[in-house]
Amino acid sequence: MSTPDGIPSPAGTAAAQRAAEAIRSAVGARWAAPVCGITLGSGLGGLAERIAGAVRIPYGDIPGFPGTTVAGHAGAVVVGTLADRPVVCFAGRFHLYEGHGAALAGFPVRVLHALGGRVYFASNAAGGIRRTFRPGDLMAIADHLNLMGRNPLVGAVEPGEERFPDMSVAYDAALRAQLHAAAQGVAVPLHDGVYAGLLGPTFETPAEVRMLERLGADAVGMSTVPEVIVARALGMRVAAVSCITNQAAGIASALLHHGEVMETGARVASAFEALVTRFVRDLV
Ligand code: HPA
Repeated sequence: MSTPDGIPSPAGTAAAQRAAEAIRSAVGARWAAPVCGITLGSGLGGLAERIAGAVRIPYGDIPGFPGTTVAGHAGAVVVGTLADRPVVCFAGRFHLYEGHGAALAGFPVRVLHALGGRVYFASNAAGGIRRTFRPGDLMAIADHLNLMGRNPLVGAVEPGEERFPDMSVAYDAALRAQLHAAAQGVAVPLHDGVYAGLLGPTFETPAEVRMLERLGADAVGMSTVPEVIVARALGMRVAAVSCITNQAAGIASALLHHGEVMETGARVASAFEALVTRFVRDLV
């Protein structure tokens, strides 16, 4: 996005092209346009280890990328192949609760687009609101509630983008069907549900969780929404999976802590990795 006074945004198209160029030149002759870009959520970073022929580029080496500050977020772009198909993996994301703007939270998706990626796969850790959800469950995101109070498209319109992008099919139905087929193929149970994105960094109060339940949310987290909005503004297709790392506040009696998020992520890592690998293998 450009700023209203015409100065190019540090998280806009031109910046994304510079970042993409740095990534392509770090990969060199082995570069191939990705069939999918993947962001790994808290505790789900192990997928990056499954990438073959991996070239790992720390965020600090890419223009426009700040370092990440959250435990469980590595902070590197990993380029290589998954199931023999070229992918770009973002191991670590930029959260609004770290003080980053929404445009920066969506910046990796702009970079993915500049790298030729047209499918974006987001994963995240989330609290389960639906009362039947248990820690370790996986949920394909069917839709979201943007309750972050921010939107990455605020500001001047980037070239080629619309002022008012449609969000009625934010999560691509065909990709979600492919996700379910992949889940069946690797025998991993996969729910469908609505993700509520909140600013954080506090976990919710029980009253807030009851409100979210009434609003139609099945899971709650602190990421993903800005990325998906940028992807849709760029005409990219989106698939996303939440790992339910805990029952949301007040659903179970336990207190919440980030350690639990990481522990559950580690416990479901192999199921999650099998699901994503199969999804990428069969992606059409
Ligand atoms: N709330 C918000 N974000 C989260 C949660 C939660 O309960 N668990 C993991 N990320």
